[in-house]
Amino acid sequence: MSKQALETDGYAGPVAVFDGAECAQILSSLRAATGRPRAWFKGWAASSPAFHRVATDPRILALVRPTLGADIVLWGASLIIKAESDIHPFHTDVESMAPEGGFVTVWIGLEHTDRSSGLKFIPGSHRYGVTLQELNHRAGVARDASTDETTLAAARQYDPAARIVQPEVHDGEALVFDGRAWHGSHNKTRAVRTALLLQYARADRPVNMPRTFSWPIEFHRSKRPPVVVVSGKGRRDRNRIVPAPRGSRALGNAIFQLPSATLRPEQRFTSFPHLWGRTPTLIDVEGHSSILAPGANPHPLHQHIEEEILVVVSGSAELHVSDDAAGSANAERVRIGPGDFAYYPAGTHHTLSNAGDTPLLYTMLKWVNYGKPADRRAAGRAIIRSGETLRSAAPGIGAPLWQERTRWLRRLHAHVSVLAPSEGYAPHADRYDVAMLLLTGRVETLGREVSAPALLYHPAGAEHGIRAVGAEPARYLVFELEGRPGPLAALARLQHRLANRRRG
Ligand SMILES: [Fe+2]
Ligand SMILES: [Fe+2]
Ligand SMILES: [Fe+2]
Repeated sequence: MSKQALETDGYAGPVAVFDGAECAQILSSLRAATGRPRAWFKGWAASSPAFHRVATDPRILALVRPTLGADIVLWGASLIIKAESDIHPFHTDVESMAPEGGFVTVWIGLEHTDRSSGLKFIPGSHRYGVTLQELNHRAGVARDASTDETTLAAARQYDPAARIVQPEVHDGEALVFDGRAWHGSHNKTRAVRTALLLQYARADRPVNMPRTFSWPIEFHRSKRPPVVVVSGKGRRDRNRIVPAPRGSRALGNAIFQLPSATLRPEQRFTSFPHLWGRTPTLIDVEGHSSILAPGANPHPLHQHIEEEILVVVSGSAELHVSDDAAGSANAERVRIGPGDFAYYPAGTHHTLSNAGDTPLLYTMLKWVNYGKPADRRAAGRAIIRSGETLRSAAPGIGAPLWQERTRWLRRLHAHVSVLAPSEGYAPHADRYDVAMLLLTGRVETLGREVSAPALLYHPAGAEHGIRAVGAEPARYLVFELEGRPGPLAALARLQHRLANRRRG
C-alpha cells in the first residue's frame, strides 16, 4: 500500500490482508466477543481480546505505521454491519476531523464485501480543511437529504474536478483512509455486509468522544474515550490510556465433528472454525479445519506469534516452510499424507498446497501463551510422519511420536493411541490441555458417540474419558499442550486435584 496515495487521495487500497479462512475465523471470534465495548460503541479494542488481537495483527499495523510513525494508539474498534440497501451517507469521522491529521482508519471487509457494498470516497477531500457535516449544515442539507449529488456539489466548491470513487474491494481486503476524508457507503448487494473498522491515531493526538453527531459537533469534556497503545509508547498527557484486554472466552471440553472432504465445483478453499479461547494453561488457542481443492493453497507464506500444528486428515499436502517471507532462507518443501503432522514454531513462515488430485482436508491448532518466551532453546520446526504408525499400531498401544519444549509451552507432546473395541480410559483430568484427532473408528466420550474424523479438546483440569465403540479399533493422534505456570495454571492444578479426588 502506498503512503503516497493516502497523502494525495486521503485513502489507499484495497490491500489483501486476510485469506478466506482467516475472515471466517475472525468473524466468528468477533461475533462471539462477550461483554460490552468499553465506554462507548467503538470501545471494543479496550474490552475484547478478540478485537484487540486482530487490531494488533502485524499486517495491519504495517499499513498505518508509515503514516503514523512508531507510537500508535487504537481508539476505535467495531464491527460495521450493513443490511441490504442500507445507506451510510457521506461524512467525515468527527473524532478524527482535526485539521492537523494524524488519524488513520483501516476498514476490512469480512463478509459479502464487494464494490457495491464497500466504501466510497471523495479523493483529496481530507485536504479541504472542512467537514462535510459543516458544509451540509451551511447549505441546509439534512442528513437524510444528503446524496452523492449534494456531496459532489459541496466538494466542487473546493475542487472543481471532485469525483466519487468506489474501490473494487473483496472480503479480507483493507481500505485505509485518512480520518478527515469524506466517505460513505450504500449496500447495493442482496446480502448483509460485515466489515471491521479499526481506528488508529498518532500517540500525541488527543482523541475526543463526540456528544452530538450533527453540526456543530460537541465533544464530551470530561469523558475521554479509552485508547490502547498498539505500537511504541502512549502519551498519558494526551489520552486516557487503558491496558490491553486480556483473557478471551474460557473453553470447556468440546467435540468437533470434522466436515467431509468435499467442495462445490467452483470452490477452491473453505474453512470450519472449531474453537477459539483461553484454557487454564493457554492464553489463547484456536483450531479449525480446512478443505483445499487440488493445486490450491490457502494463503501465501505467512507467519504469526502463535505456534501451530497442522495435521493432514485426508489427501496429500505439500508444505512450504521457510525462515523468511521470500521463501528462500532455510526453505523446505515436503509432502505429507493422512495422519502426518507438522509443527511450526512462532515466527516460522509457512503455507501449504494440495499436492493430490482429491480435496485435501486438514486440521490446525495454534496457540500463544502468557509471559516472555522461553529463553532456553525451544524446538525448531518439525515434520512428523505419524500416519503409518497410526494405521499400523496394534490396539492397546500408545506409541510416542515426538516431544519438545517450545516457545510457548514447557512441553508439547504427541503420541498415537489405538483402542480396541470397548477399550478406553475412565474419566480423569489432566494437568495439561489435550487435543485428540480421531482418524479411524468410533468412540464414546463426554456422553456422546463420535465417528472419525473428529477433534476432541479437553482443557487442563476438565474431566474426560473415552471408549472405543463399534467393530473396528479407534485410532487417534494425541497432543498434550502443557503451558507454563501462571495465574491460570494454579487454577488448573486445583481443578485437577478436585476431579481426581472425586473419582478416587
Ligand atoms: Fe465513517
Ligand atoms: Fe499459520
Ligand atoms: Fe486424558
